[in-house]
Amino acid sequence: MQKKMLKALNGQINAEMYSSYLYLAMEAYFQSISLKGFATWMRVQAQEELMHAMKFYDFTNERGGKVTLEAIAKPETAWTSPLAVFEAVLKHERHVTSLINDLIDLAISEKDHATNNFLQWFISEQVEEEASAGEIVEKLKLIKDNPSGLFMVDAELNKRVFTMSAPAAQ
Ligand code: FEO
Repeated sequence: MQKKMLKALNGQINAEMYSSYLYLAMEAYFQSISLKGFATWMRVQAQEELMHAMKFYDFTNERGGKVTLEAIAKPETAWTSPLAVFEAVLKHERHVTSLINDLIDLAISEKDHATNNFLQWFISEQVEEEASAGEIVEKLKLIKDNPSGLFMVDAELNKRVFTMSAPAAQ
């Protein structure tokens, strides 16, 4: 594997670990304001991000590259409302999408077809991630500060469970 690609994949392991850390911080925020369903959703999100990091980790090893772990940045720990949290989620996922797009651009310019193929799963994953965060942002905007609306969303988000989705299990 080319040096540049290896560095970029190691960078993405760190970015996915940071995502997991960020969502865990968001879980802690929801725990602190007793919105258990929101907290559950964030726990699952954090688990998914760890799975993403491990996919990059395993792929890097499979391709004979050395995984090098760097420090994970401290995430934000306080937000002003559930809506502010989900706006931050959406913003973060858009950022991750741009990172994946950059990785694909690099794989194409390096003629690294294997990495390009590996990254395609993340393209669909990012579409889903942005869509689900966006949907929750819209709901929270609709209910504004209405407590019964908030509790309904909390009950709905509480249903989320962590599963290894089919493409991830490949
Ligand atoms: Fe791993 Fe939420 O992107």
